Amino acid sequence: MSAATGALLFLNASQVVTCEGPPRARRGPEMNDARVRTGVGVAVVGERIAAVAPIAELREGYGDAQEVDCRNGVLAPGFVDSHTHGVFGRPRFDEQEMRAAGLDYMEIARRGGGIHSSVRDLRARSEDALFELAYERLLRLARFGTTTVEVKSGYGLSLDDELKSLRVIRRLADALPLRIVPTFLGAHEIPLEFRASAESRKAYVDSVIHEMIPAVAAQKLAIFADVFCETGVYTVEESRAILSAARGHGLLLKLHADELTSSGGAELAASIGATSADHLAAVSDDGIKALASGSTVATLLPGTMLFLGKTKHAPARRLIEAGVPVALATDFNPGTSPTSNVALILTLGVSQLHLSVAEAVIAATVNGAAALGIANEVGQIAPGFSADMSLFDIRDVRELPYWYGDNRCVVSYTRGKACHPSDLGLT
Ligand code: NIG
Ligand code: FE
Repeated sequence: MSAATGALLFLNASQVVTCEGPPRARRGPEMNDARVRTGVGVAVVGERIAAVAPIAELREGYGDAQEVDCRNGVLAPGFVDSHTHGVFGRPRFDEQEMRAAGLDYMEIARRGGGIHSSVRDLRARSEDALFELAYERLLRLARFGTTTVEVKSGYGLSLDDELKSLRVIRRLADALPLRIVPTFLGAHEIPLEFRASAESRKAYVDSVIHEMIPAVAAQKLAIFADVFCETGVYTVEESRAILSAARGHGLLLKLHADELTSSGGAELAASIGATSADHLAAVSDDGIKALASGSTVATLLPGTMLFLGKTKHAPARRLIEAGVPVALATDFNPGTSPTSNVALILTLGVSQLHLSVAEAVIAATVNGAAALGIANEVGQIAPGFSADMSLFDIRDVRELPYWYGDNRCVVSYTRGKACHPSDLGLT
Protein backbone atom coordinates (compact mmCIF):
# COMPACT_ATOMS: atom_id res chain seq x y z
CA MET A 1 0.00 0.00 0.00
CA SER A 2 1.50 3.31 -0.96
CA ALA A 3 1.46 6.35 1.31
CA ALA A 4 -1.15 8.89 0.29
CA THR A 5 -2.14 12.29 1.54
CA GLY A 6 -5.66 13.49 2.27
CA ALA A 7 -6.91 10.00 3.09
CA LEU A 8 -9.77 9.28 5.50
CA LEU A 9 -9.60 6.08 7.56
CA PHE A 10 -12.84 4.61 8.91
CA LEU A 11 -11.75 2.59 11.93
CA ASN A 12 -13.28 0.59 14.81
CA ALA A 13 -16.49 -0.57 13.12
CA SER A 14 -17.88 -3.74 14.70
CA GLN A 15 -18.68 -4.93 11.16
CA VAL A 16 -17.97 -3.64 7.67
CA VAL A 17 -20.68 -4.89 5.31
CA THR A 18 -18.79 -4.71 2.04
CA CYS A 19 -21.18 -6.39 -0.45
CA GLU A 20 -18.00 -6.78 -2.50
CA GLY A 21 -18.17 -8.89 -5.65
CA PRO A 22 -18.96 -8.51 -9.32
CA PRO A 23 -20.11 -5.00 -10.31
CA ARG A 24 -23.49 -6.15 -11.61
CA ALA A 25 -26.88 -7.35 -10.38
CA ARG A 26 -26.63 -10.39 -8.07
CA ARG A 27 -28.93 -13.35 -8.65
CA GLY A 28 -29.95 -16.52 -6.79
CA PRO A 29 -27.45 -17.63 -4.12
CA GLU A 30 -25.20 -14.64 -4.93
CA MET A 31 -27.77 -12.47 -3.17
CA ASN A 32 -27.27 -14.37 0.05
CA ASP A 33 -23.73 -13.17 0.75
CA ALA A 34 -23.26 -9.55 1.84
CA ARG A 35 -19.57 -10.17 2.76
CA VAL A 36 -19.68 -9.01 6.37
CA ARG A 37 -16.14 -8.43 7.64
CA THR A 38 -14.77 -7.81 11.12
CA GLY A 39 -11.39 -6.43 12.18
CA VAL A 40 -11.04 -4.24 9.10
CA GLY A 41 -11.21 -0.53 8.37
CA VAL A 42 -11.78 1.41 5.16
CA ALA A 43 -9.43 3.91 3.53
CA VAL A 44 -10.98 6.63 1.38
CA VAL A 45 -8.87 8.83 -0.87
CA GLY A 46 -10.73 11.74 -2.43
CA GLU A 47 -14.07 10.46 -3.69
CA ARG A 48 -13.11 6.78 -3.81
CA ILE A 49 -12.57 3.78 -1.61
CA ALA A 50 -8.88 2.91 -1.73
CA ALA A 51 -8.63 -0.11 0.57
CA VAL A 52 -10.48 -2.39 2.98
CA ALA A 53 -7.89 -3.91 5.29
CA PRO A 54 -6.87 -4.56 8.91
CA ILE A 55 -6.36 -1.37 10.91
CA ALA A 56 -2.60 -1.79 11.38
CA GLU A 57 -2.14 -2.19 7.67
CA LEU A 58 -4.20 0.93 6.93
CA ARG A 59 -2.28 3.04 9.47
CA GLU A 60 0.96 1.91 7.95
CA GLY A 61 -0.14 2.67 4.39
CA TYR A 62 -1.88 5.96 5.19
CA GLY A 63 0.25 7.44 7.97
CA ASP A 64 -0.95 11.00 7.59
CA ALA A 65 -4.64 10.14 7.23
CA GLN A 66 -7.47 11.66 9.21
CA GLU A 67 -9.27 9.01 11.27
CA VAL A 68 -13.04 8.56 11.66
CA ASP A 69 -13.93 6.52 14.75
CA CYS A 70 -16.88 4.28 13.86
CA ARG A 71 -17.34 3.57 17.60
CA ASN A 72 -18.31 -0.04 17.21
CA GLY A 73 -21.12 0.70 14.73
CA VAL A 74 -21.85 -1.10 11.45
CA LEU A 75 -20.46 0.48 8.29
CA ALA A 76 -22.31 -0.44 5.09
CA PRO A 77 -22.64 0.78 1.51
CA GLY A 78 -25.05 3.74 1.41
CA PHE A 79 -28.55 2.64 0.48
CA VAL A 80 -29.44 3.00 -3.19
CA ASP A 81 -33.13 3.94 -3.27
CA SER A 82 -33.86 3.20 -6.91
CA HIS A 83 -37.55 4.20 -7.06
CA THR A 84 -39.01 7.45 -5.69
CA HIS A 85 -41.45 10.13 -6.75
CA GLY A 86 -39.70 12.77 -4.63
CA VAL A 87 -40.97 15.97 -6.30
CA PHE A 88 -44.50 16.74 -5.14
CA GLY A 89 -46.46 19.37 -3.25
CA ARG A 90 -49.18 18.57 -0.76
CA PRO A 91 -48.96 15.29 1.17
CA ARG A 92 -52.14 13.20 0.56
CA PHE A 93 -52.88 12.09 4.13
CA ASP A 94 -56.64 12.51 3.53
CA GLU A 95 -56.58 9.46 1.24
CA GLN A 96 -55.20 7.19 3.96
CA GLU A 97 -58.40 7.61 5.96
CA MET A 98 -60.52 7.22 2.82
CA ARG A 99 -58.88 3.86 2.19
CA ALA A 100 -59.33 2.86 5.83
CA ALA A 101 -63.03 3.59 5.37
CA GLY A 102 -63.18 1.20 2.41
CA LEU A 103 -62.40 3.25 -0.72
CA ASP A 104 -59.80 1.54 -2.88
CA TYR A 105 -56.72 3.31 -4.42
CA MET A 106 -58.01 3.07 -7.99
CA GLU A 107 -61.50 4.22 -6.96
CA ILE A 108 -60.00 7.34 -5.36
CA ALA A 109 -58.15 7.97 -8.66
CA ARG A 110 -61.37 7.47 -10.68
CA ARG A 111 -62.97 10.19 -8.55
CA GLY A 112 -60.21 12.64 -9.46
CA GLY A 113 -58.06 12.06 -6.36
CA GLY A 114 -54.81 10.10 -6.21
CA ILE A 115 -52.22 11.08 -8.81
CA HIS A 116 -54.68 13.64 -10.31
CA SER A 117 -54.82 15.48 -7.02
CA SER A 118 -51.00 15.70 -6.90
CA VAL A 119 -51.01 16.91 -10.52
CA ARG A 120 -53.42 19.79 -9.77
CA ASP A 121 -51.27 20.72 -6.80
CA LEU A 122 -47.89 20.56 -8.57
CA ARG A 123 -49.09 22.59 -11.55
CA ALA A 124 -50.04 25.44 -9.21
CA ARG A 125 -46.60 25.63 -7.57
CA SER A 126 -43.51 27.45 -8.77
CA GLU A 127 -40.25 25.69 -9.54
CA ASP A 128 -38.65 27.37 -6.51
CA ALA A 129 -41.44 26.28 -4.17
CA LEU A 130 -41.17 22.68 -5.37
CA PHE A 131 -37.40 22.79 -4.99
CA GLU A 132 -37.70 23.90 -1.34
CA LEU A 133 -40.15 21.11 -0.50
CA ALA A 134 -38.19 18.39 -2.28
CA TYR A 135 -34.87 19.55 -0.82
CA GLU A 136 -36.08 18.97 2.75
CA ARG A 137 -37.74 15.69 1.84
CA LEU A 138 -34.69 14.22 0.12
CA LEU A 139 -32.42 15.36 2.93
CA ARG A 140 -34.61 13.27 5.21
CA LEU A 141 -33.93 10.24 2.99
CA ALA A 142 -30.21 10.92 3.42
CA ARG A 143 -30.60 10.95 7.20
CA PHE A 144 -31.88 7.36 7.03
CA GLY A 145 -28.70 6.23 5.26
CA THR A 146 -29.58 6.66 1.58
CA THR A 147 -26.74 8.01 -0.55
CA THR A 148 -28.20 7.47 -4.04
CA VAL A 149 -31.79 8.23 -4.94
CA GLU A 150 -33.69 7.93 -8.19
CA VAL A 151 -36.30 10.70 -8.53
CA LYS A 152 -39.15 10.64 -11.04
CA SER A 153 -41.20 13.43 -12.53
CA GLY A 154 -44.82 12.45 -13.20
CA TYR A 155 -47.05 14.88 -11.32
CA GLY A 156 -46.88 17.48 -14.09
CA LEU A 157 -48.38 15.61 -17.05
CA SER A 158 -47.92 18.51 -19.46
CA LEU A 159 -44.79 19.50 -21.36
CA ASP A 160 -44.17 22.57 -19.19
CA ASP A 161 -44.94 20.94 -15.87
CA GLU A 162 -42.89 17.81 -16.60
CA LEU A 163 -39.92 19.96 -17.64
CA LYS A 164 -40.43 22.07 -14.50
CA SER A 165 -40.32 18.92 -12.33
CA LEU A 166 -37.19 17.64 -14.07
CA ARG A 167 -35.47 21.01 -13.67
CA VAL A 168 -36.23 20.78 -9.95
CA ILE A 169 -34.57 17.34 -9.90
CA ARG A 170 -31.52 18.75 -11.68
CA ARG A 171 -31.26 21.56 -9.13
CA LEU A 172 -31.59 19.03 -6.30
CA ALA A 173 -28.73 17.02 -7.79
CA ASP A 174 -26.54 20.13 -7.74
CA ALA A 175 -27.59 21.30 -4.27
CA LEU A 176 -27.85 18.10 -2.23
CA PRO A 177 -24.97 15.96 -0.99
CA LEU A 178 -26.67 12.93 -2.55
CA ARG A 179 -26.27 11.14 -5.86
CA ILE A 180 -29.50 11.69 -7.79
CA VAL A 181 -30.69 9.78 -10.87
CA PRO A 182 -33.53 11.54 -12.78
CA THR A 183 -36.39 9.69 -14.47
CA PHE A 184 -39.03 11.09 -16.83
CA LEU A 185 -42.50 9.74 -15.95
CA GLY A 186 -44.78 11.80 -18.17
CA ALA A 187 -46.84 8.61 -18.57
CA HIS A 188 -47.78 8.34 -14.89
CA GLU A 189 -51.50 8.83 -15.61
CA ILE A 190 -53.72 10.06 -18.42
CA PRO A 191 -54.42 13.64 -17.26
CA LEU A 192 -58.10 14.43 -16.60
CA GLU A 193 -58.31 16.90 -19.51
CA PHE A 194 -57.38 14.09 -21.98
CA ARG A 195 -59.85 11.46 -20.77
CA ALA A 196 -62.99 12.45 -22.67
CA SER A 197 -62.47 10.10 -25.64
CA ALA A 198 -60.14 7.56 -27.20
CA GLU A 199 -58.87 10.33 -29.52
CA SER A 200 -57.95 12.68 -26.72
CA ARG A 201 -56.28 9.83 -24.82
CA LYS A 202 -54.24 9.11 -27.94
CA ALA A 203 -53.42 12.82 -28.22
CA TYR A 204 -51.80 12.71 -24.77
CA VAL A 205 -49.77 9.57 -25.57
CA ASP A 206 -48.69 11.28 -28.82
CA SER A 207 -47.60 14.34 -26.90
CA VAL A 208 -45.50 12.19 -24.52
CA ILE A 209 -43.88 10.52 -27.53
CA HIS A 210 -43.48 13.44 -29.92
CA GLU A 211 -43.10 16.47 -27.64
CA MET A 212 -42.06 15.52 -24.13
CA ILE A 213 -39.50 12.76 -24.76
CA PRO A 214 -37.62 14.74 -27.44
CA ALA A 215 -37.55 17.85 -25.21
CA VAL A 216 -36.41 15.89 -22.13
CA ALA A 217 -33.69 14.16 -24.14
CA ALA A 218 -32.54 17.37 -25.86
CA GLN A 219 -32.23 19.15 -22.52
CA LYS A 220 -30.57 16.08 -20.95
CA LEU A 221 -33.00 16.23 -18.05
CA ALA A 222 -33.39 12.47 -17.50
CA ILE A 223 -31.41 9.24 -17.65
CA PHE A 224 -34.47 6.96 -17.50
CA ALA A 225 -38.04 6.96 -18.83
CA ASP A 226 -40.79 5.11 -16.97
CA VAL A 227 -44.50 4.33 -17.55
CA PHE A 228 -47.28 3.30 -15.11
CA CYS A 229 -48.44 0.18 -16.98
CA GLU A 230 -51.60 -0.95 -15.16
CA THR A 231 -55.22 -1.86 -15.82
CA GLY A 232 -57.05 1.48 -16.05
CA VAL A 233 -53.84 3.48 -16.55
CA TYR A 234 -51.48 2.75 -19.51
CA THR A 235 -51.97 -0.40 -21.60
CA VAL A 236 -49.09 -2.67 -22.56
CA GLU A 237 -49.29 -1.35 -26.15
CA GLU A 238 -49.17 2.29 -25.10
CA SER A 239 -46.33 1.52 -22.68
CA ARG A 240 -44.37 -0.25 -25.40
CA ALA A 241 -44.80 2.69 -27.80
CA ILE A 242 -43.69 5.22 -25.18
CA LEU A 243 -40.68 3.19 -24.01
CA SER A 244 -39.58 2.47 -27.60
CA ALA A 245 -39.65 6.20 -28.35
CA ALA A 246 -37.68 6.91 -25.18
CA ARG A 247 -35.06 4.36 -26.13
CA GLY A 248 -34.84 5.96 -29.57
CA HIS A 249 -33.85 9.19 -27.79
CA GLY A 250 -31.13 7.49 -25.76
CA LEU A 251 -33.03 7.08 -22.48
CA LEU A 252 -32.76 3.91 -20.38
CA LEU A 253 -36.02 2.23 -19.43
CA LYS A 254 -38.02 1.41 -16.31
CA LEU A 255 -41.60 0.23 -15.94
CA HIS A 256 -44.22 0.29 -13.18
CA ALA A 257 -45.29 -3.29 -13.88
CA ASP A 258 -48.01 -5.53 -12.44
CA GLU A 259 -48.45 -3.44 -9.29
CA LEU A 260 -52.15 -4.08 -8.64
CA THR A 261 -53.21 -6.39 -11.48
CA SER A 262 -51.35 -8.74 -13.78
CA SER A 263 -51.40 -7.02 -17.15
CA GLY A 264 -48.26 -8.26 -18.88
CA GLY A 265 -46.00 -5.51 -17.56
CA ALA A 266 -43.15 -7.83 -16.51
CA GLU A 267 -43.20 -9.51 -19.92
CA LEU A 268 -43.03 -6.12 -21.63
CA ALA A 269 -40.17 -4.92 -19.40
CA ALA A 270 -38.15 -8.07 -20.13
CA SER A 271 -38.83 -8.06 -23.87
CA ILE A 272 -37.96 -4.40 -24.31
CA GLY A 273 -34.76 -4.72 -22.23
CA ALA A 274 -35.84 -2.39 -19.41
CA THR A 275 -33.19 -1.89 -16.74
CA SER A 276 -35.85 -2.58 -14.09
CA ALA A 277 -39.46 -3.72 -13.70
CA ASP A 278 -40.91 -2.23 -10.53
CA HIS A 279 -43.64 -3.32 -8.04
CA LEU A 280 -44.59 -6.80 -9.41
CA ALA A 281 -46.97 -7.61 -6.53
CA ALA A 282 -49.32 -9.16 -9.12
CA VAL A 283 -46.70 -10.59 -11.52
CA SER A 284 -47.80 -13.77 -13.35
CA ASP A 285 -45.85 -17.02 -13.70
CA ASP A 286 -45.12 -16.07 -17.32
CA GLY A 287 -43.90 -12.67 -16.12
CA ILE A 288 -41.45 -14.34 -13.71
CA LYS A 289 -40.24 -16.61 -16.53
CA ALA A 290 -39.76 -13.65 -18.86
CA LEU A 291 -37.74 -11.75 -16.24
CA ALA A 292 -35.62 -14.83 -15.50
CA SER A 293 -34.58 -15.11 -19.12
CA GLY A 294 -33.41 -11.50 -19.40
CA SER A 295 -31.34 -8.95 -17.51
CA THR A 296 -34.09 -6.75 -16.02
CA VAL A 297 -33.88 -6.15 -12.25
CA ALA A 298 -37.13 -6.76 -10.30
CA THR A 299 -37.51 -3.78 -7.96
CA LEU A 300 -39.90 -4.63 -5.14
CA LEU A 301 -41.65 -1.92 -3.13
CA PRO A 302 -43.26 -3.59 -0.11
CA GLY A 303 -43.84 -0.26 1.66
CA THR A 304 -46.48 0.51 -0.96
CA MET A 305 -48.41 -2.68 -0.30
CA LEU A 306 -48.19 -2.07 3.46
CA PHE A 307 -49.42 1.52 3.18
CA LEU A 308 -52.25 0.63 0.75
CA GLY A 309 -53.42 -2.00 3.23
CA LYS A 310 -52.87 -4.86 0.79
CA THR A 311 -51.97 -8.26 2.13
CA LYS A 312 -50.52 -9.56 -1.13
CA HIS A 313 -46.81 -8.91 -1.59
CA ALA A 314 -44.55 -9.51 -4.59
CA PRO A 315 -43.38 -13.15 -4.80
CA ALA A 316 -39.80 -12.32 -3.84
CA ARG A 317 -38.74 -15.90 -3.06
CA ARG A 318 -40.09 -17.21 -6.35
CA LEU A 319 -38.33 -14.41 -8.22
CA ILE A 320 -35.01 -15.12 -6.50
CA GLU A 321 -35.37 -18.86 -6.96
CA ALA A 322 -36.09 -18.29 -10.68
CA GLY A 323 -32.78 -16.38 -10.89
CA VAL A 324 -34.25 -12.87 -11.17
CA PRO A 325 -32.11 -10.17 -9.48
CA VAL A 326 -34.26 -8.45 -6.83
CA ALA A 327 -33.88 -4.87 -5.58
CA LEU A 328 -35.78 -3.14 -2.76
CA ALA A 329 -36.76 0.54 -2.71
CA THR A 330 -39.11 2.90 -0.87
CA ASP A 331 -41.33 4.16 -3.74
CA PHE A 332 -41.31 7.39 -1.68
CA ASN A 333 -44.38 9.31 -2.92
CA PRO A 334 -47.34 11.25 -1.45
CA GLY A 335 -50.02 8.68 -2.27
CA THR A 336 -48.89 5.13 -1.69
CA SER A 337 -45.60 5.17 0.22
CA PRO A 338 -44.65 8.32 2.15
CA THR A 339 -41.66 6.72 3.91
CA SER A 340 -38.02 7.82 3.70
CA ASN A 341 -36.80 4.83 5.69
CA VAL A 342 -34.97 2.17 3.67
CA ALA A 343 -34.20 0.15 6.83
CA LEU A 344 -37.97 -0.19 7.32
CA ILE A 345 -38.19 -1.52 3.76
CA LEU A 346 -35.54 -4.09 4.74
CA THR A 347 -37.79 -5.06 7.67
CA LEU A 348 -40.65 -5.67 5.23
CA GLY A 349 -38.23 -7.50 2.94
CA VAL A 350 -37.34 -9.95 5.70
CA SER A 351 -40.65 -10.22 7.60
CA GLN A 352 -43.09 -10.05 4.66
CA LEU A 353 -41.12 -11.06 1.55
CA HIS A 354 -39.14 -13.78 3.37
CA LEU A 355 -35.71 -12.54 2.35
CA SER A 356 -32.64 -13.24 4.45
CA VAL A 357 -30.93 -10.16 5.89
CA ALA A 358 -28.08 -10.58 3.38
CA GLU A 359 -30.55 -10.74 0.47
CA ALA A 360 -32.36 -7.63 1.73
CA VAL A 361 -29.06 -5.73 2.13
CA ILE A 362 -27.85 -6.71 -1.36
CA ALA A 363 -31.29 -5.74 -2.71
CA ALA A 364 -30.97 -2.20 -1.31
CA THR A 365 -27.33 -1.68 -2.32
CA VAL A 366 -25.77 -3.61 -5.21
CA ASN A 367 -29.06 -4.52 -6.89
CA GLY A 368 -30.47 -1.03 -6.35
CA ALA A 369 -27.38 0.27 -8.12
CA ALA A 370 -27.91 -2.26 -10.93
CA ALA A 371 -31.52 -1.03 -11.23
CA LEU A 372 -30.00 2.39 -11.98
CA GLY A 373 -27.26 1.10 -14.29
CA ILE A 374 -24.49 2.18 -11.88
CA ALA A 375 -23.45 -1.10 -10.22
CA ASN A 376 -19.85 -0.40 -11.28
CA GLU A 377 -19.86 2.87 -9.29
CA VAL A 378 -21.85 2.41 -6.06
CA GLY A 379 -23.32 -0.33 -3.85
CA GLN A 380 -20.08 -1.86 -2.56
CA ILE A 381 -17.37 -0.97 -0.08
CA ALA A 382 -14.54 -2.15 -2.29
CA PRO A 383 -11.47 -0.50 -3.83
CA GLY A 384 -12.32 1.70 -6.80
CA PHE A 385 -15.96 2.27 -5.84
CA SER A 386 -17.29 5.68 -4.93
CA ALA A 387 -16.98 6.32 -1.18
CA ASP A 388 -20.75 6.17 -0.55
CA MET A 389 -21.16 4.65 2.90
CA SER A 390 -23.49 4.81 5.90
CA LEU A 391 -22.66 4.19 9.53
CA PHE A 392 -25.34 2.69 11.79
CA ASP A 393 -25.52 2.61 15.58
CA ILE A 394 -25.87 -1.17 15.79
CA ARG A 395 -23.35 -3.96 16.42
CA ASP A 396 -24.62 -6.57 13.97
CA VAL A 397 -26.04 -6.04 10.47
CA ARG A 398 -29.04 -8.18 11.45
CA GLU A 399 -30.14 -5.32 13.70
CA LEU A 400 -30.77 -3.17 10.62
CA PRO A 401 -34.20 -4.70 9.84
CA TYR A 402 -34.76 -5.67 13.49
CA TRP A 403 -35.30 -2.29 15.20
CA TYR A 404 -38.10 -1.60 12.81
CA GLY A 405 -39.12 1.96 12.14
CA ASP A 406 -36.02 3.23 14.00
CA ASN A 407 -33.37 5.38 12.42
CA ARG A 408 -29.99 4.01 13.44
CA CYS A 409 -28.03 5.91 10.78
CA VAL A 410 -25.43 8.15 12.43
CA VAL A 411 -23.77 9.62 9.37
CA SER A 412 -23.52 8.95 5.64
CA TYR A 413 -20.83 9.81 3.13
CA THR A 414 -21.39 10.35 -0.59
CA ARG A 415 -18.31 10.65 -2.80
CA GLY A 416 -16.19 10.76 0.37
CA LYS A 417 -18.08 13.73 1.89
CA ALA A 418 -20.41 13.65 4.89
CA CYS A 419 -23.98 14.06 3.61
CA HIS A 420 -25.85 14.92 6.76
CA PRO A 421 -24.83 16.13 10.19
CA SER A 422 -24.68 13.50 12.86
CA ASP A 423 -27.21 14.41 15.50
CA LEU A 424 -27.69 11.00 17.08
CA GLY A 425 -24.29 10.13 18.48
CA LEU A 426 -23.08 6.60 19.05
CA THR A 427 -23.75 4.82 22.33
O1 NIG B 1 -45.51 3.73 -7.54
N1 NIG B 1 -48.14 3.43 -9.15
C1 NIG B 1 -47.92 4.55 -9.56
N2 NIG B 1 -47.21 5.48 -8.98
C2 NIG B 1 -46.95 5.53 -7.58
C3 NIG B 1 -48.08 6.12 -6.83
C4 NIG B 1 -48.23 7.52 -7.13
C5 NIG B 1 -49.29 8.22 -6.36
O2 NIG B 1 -50.29 7.61 -5.90
O3 NIG B 1 -49.12 9.43 -6.23
C6 NIG B 1 -46.54 4.17 -7.07
O4 NIG B 1 -47.19 3.58 -6.20
FE1 FE C 1 -43.79 4.32 -8.16
